[in-house]
Amino acid sequence: ELLCALMAAFGYVLGAIPFGVVVSQALSLPDPRTVGSKNVGFTNVLRVSGAKAGILTLLGDLGKGWVMGWGAMQWLTVESYIMLVALSPIIGHMISPFLNFRGGKGVATALGSVLGLSPSMGLLLLLIWLGAVAIWRYSSGGALAAFGVFPVVAIVNEQRQEFLIFAIIVSVLIWIRHKDNIMRLWKGTESKIGEKKALA
Ligand code: G3P
Repeated sequence: ELLCALMAAFGYVLGAIPFGVVVSQALSLPDPRTVGSKNVGFTNVLRVSGAKAGILTLLGDLGKGWVMGWGAMQWLTVESYIMLVALSPIIGHMISPFLNFRGGKGVATALGSVLGLSPSMGLLLLLIWLGAVAIWRYSSGGALAAFGVFPVVAIVNEQRQEFLIFAIIVSVLIWIRHKDNIMRLWKGTESKIGEKKALA
């Protein structure tokens, strides 16, 4: 229990590091919180600062999720503790003390965390995201598709009840965080991935 609490606290703080902001600052690029969709994630950094900064952001945000998902699988045995630790960086990313308890939408961090927990499940989500983006060109659409399917696949595939609860919590949080994107998709004003466009 102590190990779980320590890992969850560490995961929260690690998850709270907004790589989009860190990378942009390090490369003297505009703060993603002030431009484009104002989101700190991969999609917006790619949108406003290009591929290099975008990919570094993606790797950082995905990596911090992966470390916690993988670490939880390595060092914990109680399922509910594993899920709590895997959830911690996603919560940290969304509600970051370094960003006045604001934060990102959690897609990359959640993908990383799931990849660490279950590589096959993570890969499946990644493929859904890639497939949806290849078809629609909306990064947000890809995220909504992947994390719409996630709880369904978790029900079909997993015996572990804890994993299902994890899948539901993560997916609901990600969908809630995308409410502006959902509105923009609905109105037809969402920007396509990599497209430089001011977002209303
Ligand atoms: O991962 C976030 C993505 O789904 C949407 O980002 O910047 O278009 O709001 P953004």
